[in-house]
Amino acid sequence: MDPFSLKDEVALVTASTRGIGRAIAHRFAEVGAAVVVNGRSAEAVETVVAEIRSAGGRAAGLAGDALSEDLPDAIIDLAFSAFGDLTILVNNAGTGRHGPLLTEISEEEFRSNFEYNVVSCWRFAASAAKRMKRGSIINVSSSTSRQRGMANMGAYAASKGAMDNLTRTMAIEFAPDIRVNGIAPGPIPTELFKHASGATSKEDLNAFLGFLKMPMNRFGKPEEIAYAAQFLCSPAAAWITGEVLTISGGQ
Ligand SMILES: NC(=O)c1ccc[n+]([C@@H]2O[C@H](COP(=O)([O-])OP(=O)(O)OC[C@H]3O[C@@H](n4cnc5c(N)ncnc54)[C@H](OP(=O)(O)O)[C@@H]3O)[C@@H](O)[C@H]2O)c1
Repeated sequence: MDPFSLKDEVALVTASTRGIGRAIAHRFAEVGAAVVVNGRSAEAVETVVAEIRSAGGRAAGLAGDALSEDLPDAIIDLAFSAFGDLTILVNNAGTGRHGPLLTEISEEEFRSNFEYNVVSCWRFAASAAKRMKRGSIINVSSSTSRQRGMANMGAYAASKGAMDNLTRTMAIEFAPDIRVNGIAPGPIPTELFKHASGATSKEDLNAFLGFLKMPMNRFGKPEEIAYAAQFLCSPAAAWITGEVLTISGGQ
């Protein structure tokens, strides 16, 4: 048996049409999982489903807003109707930006961080845990939640910190059959990151890298998060639950 294989798994990856979620969806399919893809754009969902199928993998998809109260049950129903099971949930949908200070941020923006990174995460996990007989949940956090504080990212870091705490409680409540872990990525220049940091050009990104003082002196890649997600969902991690793994080049 390959301890890193996901061949017996059916995985739902929220927000998986770009960036980290897309890399996780592709990686999971490459190592044998059937994958349910999600994002708000139906066209983008169809594209990723087609990419996975044309590479020989199994995939289905449902477009929908991760903040919608109805989406978790609808998309879990799809996993069961398409593949007969659900054994992995990756809560990847999230939002946040390098924005206003805590004295300046609007209540709407402050609450939006918690709607994505806490409420939606909880809603998907609770719906999934009621129907999963076994398996694994991954909550995609952020390295900003692991630091002493993060100016200009207070609401985002606090909401991901709350997510990490939820991860630890879910690990206790859903044990022993469902393991729950978090992954806390450092900066990866996806669309969300570019929007969040305001760094869009190559020059902006290089300047931001200097500002961040990254020990490994480079940004991460979505694939580097996907490998960790694979490990945490695989038999190789059978005794790991309630942990949050920071993947941030030493930052
Ligand atoms: N990139 C980083 O540096 C970084 C670092 C730490 C943590 N993270 C976390 O990693 C996760 C993914 O971020 P990313 O950087 O990979 O983002 P990204 O490349 O911008 O991709 C975002 C994905 O989310 C989907 N999406 C956005 N809003 C959605 C909603 N309301 N409902 C459903 N899908 C939605 C997008 O598709 P549509 O637009 O079609 O909906 C897209 O597939 C987030 O939780 C983020 O906080 C990222």
